[in-house]
Amino acid sequence: MALVLFYFLHTFMRKRQEVSPSCKNSLRNNSGLRDHQNGRRFMRMRVLVTGVTGQLGHDCVVELKDRGMEVRGVSSKDFPLTDAKAMRRVMAAYKPNCVIHCAAYTAVDRAEDDEAACMAVNAEGTANLAKLCREFHAKMVYISTDYVFPGDGDAPYETDAPKGPQNVYGKSKLMGEEAIQSILKRYFIVRISWVFGINGKNFIRTMLRLGESHAKLTVVDDQVGSPTYTRDLSVLLADMIQTERYGVYHATNEGFCSWAELAAEVFRQAGMPVEVTPVPSSAYPTRAVRPKNSRMSKNSLTEAGFALLPRWQDAVGRYLIELESMKEQREALAE
Ligand SMILES: NC(=O)c1ccc[n+]([C@@H]2O[C@H](COP(=O)([O-])OP(=O)(O)OC[C@H]3O[C@@H](n4cnc5c(N)ncnc54)[C@H](OP(=O)(O)O)[C@@H]3O)[C@@H](O)[C@H]2O)c1
Repeated sequence: MALVLFYFLHTFMRKRQEVSPSCKNSLRNNSGLRDHQNGRRFMRMRVLVTGVTGQLGHDCVVELKDRGMEVRGVSSKDFPLTDAKAMRRVMAAYKPNCVIHCAAYTAVDRAEDDEAACMAVNAEGTANLAKLCREFHAKMVYISTDYVFPGDGDAPYETDAPKGPQNVYGKSKLMGEEAIQSILKRYFIVRISWVFGINGKNFIRTMLRLGESHAKLTVVDDQVGSPTYTRDLSVLLADMIQTERYGVYHATNEGFCSWAELAAEVFRQAGMPVEVTPVPSSAYPTRAVRPKNSRMSKNSLTEAGFALLPRWQDAVGRYLIELESMKEQREALAE
């Protein structure tokens, strides 16, 4: 018992120490106090977070609870996006004044052969949720994706750049955006990319697993974008919902890289001697087309007074520490 308690305390202290100076700045700068100073009053927030069993939804719930906010996380079991009546029952019982909609059909390749299911969740489910937000006077955060853009050129996309999704998943997420914009006034659309978090599978975890058994790996280097650490994004979202600064935003960790560069940085920081050989996307054909250019401009974020997220290399470092802490906790619990 004492050992378990020690590990929890140890992990808690490490979590606090992990926050880098840039992240602390982000916390300070994004503080809802700014709106308070502008004379706005905050109502007590009751937040419903969809997708709690996924990467982002999990971290949003942790962040909001850490801040003492009233929050309920829901998954497909208690809040199926394909069942408007079931969703309405939850909304009527909980009466949130804010919904952070992280849930989505995220199987990008499977969506190519399962378009109806993907659309039912990402387009129709999101539209139904937006209608419920209107009925229950809740502001809504919708998490969208770089896949709404065509992926051409090499300049960062502004939030209002022409759209042109190249796959079914991207089309469905864009339809979700359009539905929200036609139904609601009080919404935040936040486009993110290359997500990694503690509660789910992602590219970094795959690399770490493959790196255990391979001294050399070939990784795609003609797709360029920005990784998004769900812990960093959750801090921004928790700040955002306390404001009335509605609009469309891009929010990823700062800086751009290719998948090959991300893999190399993961191995460097993890101290794993794995050689990464860059290869073109054609070496790894996938069912769904991926955009080559996933760079997104953060101009709308800074113009609205929100601080940028820390650089992606910094985020990778803190994520590796978080993974290590989780491993230690599991080992302690197993003893
Ligand atoms: N992953 C990325 O690289 C990436 C990139 C850009 C944007 N995004 C967007 O970021 C958001 C969060 O992504 P993530 O990686 O955290 O997702 P994730 O880990 O794949 O989790 C998806 C979540 O959606 C829920 N969900 C799926 N189908 C549902 C349904 N029919 N009804 C209700 N809930 C359902 C799942 O619940 P169950 O566990 O109960 O199925 C799960 O909690 C999503 O909106 C995604 O489109 C992700």
